[in-house]
Amino acid sequence: MTGLVTTTPALETRALVAGYEPDLPIVRGVDLSVAPGELLVVLGPNGAGKSTFVKAIAGVAPIHGGSVTLAGRDITDVPAHRKITQGLAFVPQTENIFATLSIHENLQLAAAVLPKPVRPDRIRALYDRFPDLAIAPSRLAGALSGGQRQMLAVARALIVDPPLIILDEPSAGLSPKIVSEVFEMLQRINATGVTVILVEQNVKAALKIASRAVILVEGQIRHEGAATALLDDPILAKLYLGTGHARNHSREAELP
Ligand SMILES: Nc1ncnc2c1ncn2[C@@H]1O[C@H](COP(=O)(O)OP(=O)(O)O)[C@@H](O)[C@H]1O
Ligand SMILES: [Mg+2]
Repeated sequence: MTGLVTTTPALETRALVAGYEPDLPIVRGVDLSVAPGELLVVLGPNGAGKSTFVKAIAGVAPIHGGSVTLAGRDITDVPAHRKITQGLAFVPQTENIFATLSIHENLQLAAAVLPKPVRPDRIRALYDRFPDLAIAPSRLAGALSGGQRQMLAVARALIVDPPLIILDEPSAGLSPKIVSEVFEMLQRINATGVTVILVEQNVKAALKIASRAVILVEGQIRHEGAATALLDDPILAKLYLGTGHARNHSREAELP
């Protein structure tokens, strides 16, 4: 790459302020630029504002200042359902599937944002991409394993064939083996050219698949850098173990 080449970011936030009450900002001025094709992980302690940040981007938490652009287009004030059709897929941490509906019904509902004629083809494409879901389309989503549920949630988000997908802690509550499966799925999606923004508490596993990481602390970006470099950075131990002292001479500190 030469310094002369500029690409439009897949997603950019500028001085983003968001929160549930105007006088109580949770996200406090975040500048973030994500390049097309990146797999970016957003880390940070509990309550740092990670979920509020991605919810604000997706249009489901109130924005009080700053801007969000998707592939160069300002989407700050676009309602959530239109952000989806404009190519921003969001998988929230909870309530990301309808447990009382079947796999197929879940996909049909997700497809409702699309024009009717294209829906069957898009659903078929998802079954090709997620063969596990195709095995039993009539199965109730509530009867699926944790890993399969995440797969269904991601499949729902991919219905519009988006260039960008944002996931909020997709590995929460899953066993280590299933976490690997979910992360492998995200790597495969990323390998097809989809930009991925991943909020995670599973720090080490996430850093292994990410290209870049940002750490959010008290609603602001505290650190930004290559994911592999961060794996050995004492700032992680400091933030996650809450010792206040980075253990510079030891890599023994276990992260969550
Ligand atoms: N729906 C909500 N209404 C009011 N406050 C909220 C809501 N959701 C989260 N908060 C508050 O916002 C802060 C950041 O929460 P959150 O964005 O969920 O952090 P994280 O995802 O990093 O754990 C916390 O203090 C939390 O109590
Ligand atoms: Mg959260």
